Amino acid sequence: MAYLEELFELPGRVALVTGARQGVGRALALALARAGARVALTSRDAASLRELGRELEPLGAEPLLLGLELTDAAAPARAVEAVIERWGRLDVLVNNAGLSIRGPAVDYAVAEWDEVFATNLRGPFLLAQAAARAMGDGGRIVNVSSTYARVAVAERAAYAASKAGLEQLTRALAVEWAARGITVNAIAPGATPTQTRRAVLGTAEAARARAAEIPLGRLGSADDLAGALLLLTGPAGAFITGQTIVVDGGYTLGVA
Ligand SMILES: NC(=O)c1ccc[n+]([C@@H]2O[C@H](COP(=O)([O-])OP(=O)(O)OC[C@H]3O[C@@H](n4cnc5c(N)ncnc54)[C@H](OP(=O)(O)O)[C@@H]3O)[C@@H](O)[C@H]2O)c1
Repeated sequence: MAYLEELFELPGRVALVTGARQGVGRALALALARAGARVALTSRDAASLRELGRELEPLGAEPLLLGLELTDAAAPARAVEAVIERWGRLDVLVNNAGLSIRGPAVDYAVAEWDEVFATNLRGPFLLAQAAARAMGDGGRIVNVSSTYARVAVAERAAYAASKAGLEQLTRALAVEWAARGITVNAIAPGATPTQTRRAVLGTAEAARARAAEIPLGRLGSADDLAGALLLLTGPAGAFITGQTIVVDGGYTLGVA
């Protein structure tokens, strides 16, 4: 057990997880708390984080509930400042918050394109920038991408392009900040039936059809991502940077 603790535990570490109210962000925040980290959570509506906050308290995560609107370019720096004010340090940033506005490319509105890019690419960059300034003696940044960064499907041009941009941003920042002891990596989930995505995945029949395209034979869950996160944030991942771990049951292999 001590060996596993040495590889994956985060005692005394401080983590910031965006978009943590539900779905993937909630599962990732719980994973970090269970590994011993103190955790700051964000939502556009901070009050909506209270339930998760109550769940994290007994784990010793001392949850800090923050409001964060990623389309506001000044907001990321404020969120990082609040973390520093509370704990005096930031060790892990998880850029999980994201937005998908689906629609035919010929009719796609500029406002929708801008909102998707501000949420999925500019916001995570500004958070990473503020975090890197605050991470004194090194840190870990993990961006949540998507299999749609590499598999092209209709009616998701803005989302797919923003996530592909996020993966290249991951590599660019990894190179630039390696000398500061900061690793920058990404996790790319496949279709995960979280609260907001259930409607997109559609009926039980549509979900079954999607699962049939996945070599491991099922849709992923938010909890399937916890292991990749703990690898990238714990001591075990100290020498991994600029990488994207695809957690999709083999979907992108295209062999189902
Ligand atoms: N679920 C999937 O199938 C799937 C597959 C691949 C990748 N992903 C990625 O995984 C991440 C989490 O996905 P999810 O399905 O759990 O939830 P989600 O509904 O895609 O989004 C996660 C959170 O992002 C926050 N958010 C959205 N717009 C925001 C904005 N303008 N400013 C600040 N926060 C904003 C929302 O939090 P509040 O409403 O509380 O503000 C939301 O709960 C996303 O980056 C998503 O693209 C998901």
